[in-house]
Amino acid sequence: MFSKKMEKSLNQQVNAELYSSYLYLSMSAYFSEINLAGCAHWMRLQAQEELLHGLKIYDYINERGGRALLASIEAPPQKWDSPVAVFENVLAHEQKVTGMINKLVDQAISEKDHATNNFLQWFVAEQVEEEASANEALQKMRLAAKEGGLFILDQELARRVLTPAA
Ligand code: FEO
Repeated sequence: MFSKKMEKSLNQQVNAELYSSYLYLSMSAYFSEINLAGCAHWMRLQAQEELLHGLKIYDYINERGGRALLASIEAPPQKWDSPVAVFENVLAHEQKVTGMINKLVDQAISEKDHATNNFLQWFVAEQVEEEASANEALQKMRLAAKEGGLFILDQELARRVLTPAA
């Protein structure tokens, strides 16, 4: 068993992960509307990942004998000023989620809840990846917005393979 306080905090995190899913799906809809199918695809997959994050915590709550309680999910924004602004929002959002996960870990440590601390370490590692991939996408969007030709050339150079000497 875990504490009621921990159960409540984990339920709040389920809600936060589902909100993330909703946010990225809204971003996907925005990109579909402006005919950027690649960005819409990236966001849709991101939305699916967030749903899986929420389910992972939901399953853990059940496993520990708690009760997953699904609260209402806040409506996400529907419009952004530019594609770059969307990716800025993604990075800022992931940084916020990292802060939430860190707080949960702090709570697990202060409650000496080793199992929850261990469970949360997956999310600690995942947030490193989440922030890195959001930042990478943002930097590419910024480059493409400013220097479209340079962006395409860089992609071409990235495809170079080593040719063994004859
Ligand atoms: Fe579930 Fe993107 O963090």
